[in-house]
Amino acid sequence: MIMVILAVALTILVIIIAKLHIIPIINIMILKRKHPKYVESIFHLGPSLIREEKHNFKQYDDSLYAFRNIYKKNPEVKLIAYKNAKGQIGYAFVDPELIKQVHQNPEVFQKQMNNPIIKYLFQDSLLFRTGKEWQRQRQFLGKSFHFDEIKNYLQDIKQVANEELQKVKQQIQSKPDSSIEIVKICQSITQEVVFRIVFGSTNLKVIKSDGQKVPIADEMISSIQSFQILLRSNYLLFAKFVILGKNVLEVIPTNKEKEVKQRFLGLKKACLQIINQRKKQLMTDPTQYKYNFLDQYLKEVIINNNKSITDEEIIQNSLSLFFAGTDTTGNLSGSALYYLSINPTIQQQAREEVLKMLSQNKQNETLEEKLASLSLQDLSNMNFLNSILKETLRLIPPGPNVLSRICIQDFKIGEFFIKKGTPVGTYFISSQMNPKLYPNPEKFDPNRWMNPQEQNSINFTPFSLGPRNCIGQHLAIIEAKCILSYILIHYDILPNKDQQIKFRSQFVYGIYPDNFIKLKIR
Ligand code: HEM
Repeated sequence: MIMVILAVALTILVIIIAKLHIIPIINIMILKRKHPKYVESIFHLGPSLIREEKHNFKQYDDSLYAFRNIYKKNPEVKLIAYKNAKGQIGYAFVDPELIKQVHQNPEVFQKQMNNPIIKYLFQDSLLFRTGKEWQRQRQFLGKSFHFDEIKNYLQDIKQVANEELQKVKQQIQSKPDSSIEIVKICQSITQEVVFRIVFGSTNLKVIKSDGQKVPIADEMISSIQSFQILLRSNYLLFAKFVILGKNVLEVIPTNKEKEVKQRFLGLKKACLQIINQRKKQLMTDPTQYKYNFLDQYLKEVIINNNKSITDEEIIQNSLSLFFAGTDTTGNLSGSALYYLSINPTIQQQAREEVLKMLSQNKQNETLEEKLASLSLQDLSNMNFLNSILKETLRLIPPGPNVLSRICIQDFKIGEFFIKKGTPVGTYFISSQMNPKLYPNPEKFDPNRWMNPQEQNSINFTPFSLGPRNCIGQHLAIIEAKCILSYILIHYDILPNKDQQIKFRSQFVYGIYPDNFIKLKIR
């Protein structure tokens, strides 16, 4: 009897090993043999991409070392084949032309939703909806993100930047040589800006189970992180996740798993309370409508009686905008300040551009008043600052790749046949570091961008491309330009020489730890 049990157990083990490791290795070898020039591979036990990032971070201080340097290894590479935790072969495209083809077909390559974070927080939002529903939401939200519409938020952006950076001034005045956790500061600016744009008021709080009051956006990031830490540290949960996907928190949950789920639900409850309160106000006094997302949505619901908009959609889109718009823009601004700190000549040139723009405003105004009256046109005329941000996005794109997709029908991309069910991703960072397109690619050189005609835009896509490109890209650039202008005018930006920096990919890709600059009041 024992022998039979052992034989069955052994057979099951062999089948699992074959399915998770041996068959994927063979399939990757076949693919490489078919396209010897164009395919590279990443293969580790378990989820290969996560393992590769961890290994790269440990060995090279850069989670994306392999993707940044892939063109140095193989100048003709188009695709990186990898194995995921389920033993499936995933396709990570790095060739710009093939990346374009993937993004031109969003209905074939659909974002994967097999995660409880998405299930609870984002699945009904613009970030994850597909087809007609996505189109309706994109049209509705898209109106408010057109470049010209950003002027409606400019006053708030400048006010928030000014307030947050005043706090930095106090820190420097009391401790002049202290290093500044600049990404955190930039994120508190971008978080507050998104909050005002979405809810029209400042960052409201969630009351946690222990009675502690935490800003909604902080609670969202921290609850997502808690789930990810739990997943990485608990093999049982990971195995459950591989099998159950987005329903992992429903089946035999441990206390910690129940707690994470409650935090997700608590966040949504807090948003719903804000929505209901505002609904009541607007129903009693319709003259109160303001230019923010919540009011735009409620106008549709209350005045235009639009039944297709649900509370859940409003909640999830609010959370999506915090998620997509805060850390990304904060890291872009922080990374640009890092490059300015180590390139004093470029820093001075950028400062001169801002000063020149300010000098066009009323002569009798103070610098503070001139900064406060910067217009959208002034900011968009700052070409050198624009080039600095583009060069930063090339070197440290906060979204170096897109959320992973699943191919929902057999399809051909370039010379590659992709079977239904294959996981597919696109990595922008690789071609942005291709020495053929960007000579001396590691060098921070904003002058590359001063002649826009020379740049072929399909090689540079930090905001993605195609119909599902980033809806907030104009807002992000204007926010970053405001932050940079304020800092350039008030401070000399110096590197923190005591801090060794690393490049880390977590929610977004950025510099870690973030105390990499010092500021000296001018
Ligand atoms: C430097 C800042 C930013 C970067 C680098 C960035 C990058 C990206 C990328 C790469 C995508 C495509 C994701 C995918 O398809 O998987 C995306 C989509 C998106 N971004 Fe951004 N983003 C930034 C700022 C913002 C801001 C400020 C907002 C709004 C407040 C925003 C809202 C969105 C939304 C809603 C989508 C989904 C659009 C759709 O699927 O139709 N992003 N972003």
